[in-house]
Amino acid sequence: MDIQACKRRAGRHAADEFLRSGMTIGLGTGSTAIFATRRIAERLQDGSLHDIAALPTSIATEAAARELGIPLTTFAERPLVDVTIDGADEVDDDLNVIKGGGGALLREKIVAQATRRFVIVVDETKRSPCLGSQYQLPVEVTPFGWQSQAGYLRQLGAAPTLRLAAGAPYRSDQGNFILDCDFGAIRNLAELNGALNSRAGIVEHGLFLGMAHAVVVAGHDGLRLLRRAD
Ligand code: A5P
Repeated sequence: MDIQACKRRAGRHAADEFLRSGMTIGLGTGSTAIFATRRIAERLQDGSLHDIAALPTSIATEAAARELGIPLTTFAERPLVDVTIDGADEVDDDLNVIKGGGGALLREKIVAQATRRFVIVVDETKRSPCLGSQYQLPVEVTPFGWQSQAGYLRQLGAAPTLRLAAGAPYRSDQGNFILDCDFGAIRNLAELNGALNSRAGIVEHGLFLGMAHAVVVAGHDGLRLLRRAD
């Protein structure tokens, strides 16, 4: 099975397994989560899902959901989300993940933190023995003073690169910059999480620690469901 087929399988499975009528659903961002979003639209059409309201994690996902006819909501109407299905860039055995490859990490973390059950969907290439060994950590910073944050990240052991789009700094949905940080394998996740959280100018980062309740992994030998031991 190729990667695209694995992404499709993981996304569709999560939308079948974890979602029920009446729920408020967080819609993730990226090339795997979109399969869950499309499956939600199919289920609305075939009637196996009804009376849902969806909260998108990015402008791109919102546009896709609108096009698919999925009813949308806002935090003003529904401050609590029952289930969010989202992708990830790297997943370890403790269900900690790196997210933000698509630049939507801030809205994704806001929605994930408001969610009762946060479900990650990935293909098997995303599994990792140690976060950071396969993927650079995206760190969202304010444009004001971003060079200072780059220096701080270097002090923490990273090699940061300013993300570009068409030759100019990439802008997140909130208008911020993203520094992609090569930390190598991150041995002390909690310590780095704290150091990133404590710095003014760092708006958010792609470490999602202890947040995922389940991870659906699709690979050549089928589907695996990893659940957090509560
Ligand atoms: C978006 O900012 C990201 O967090 C994505 O969820 C993550 O990069 C996974 O994306 P893919 O499913 O496209 O690999």
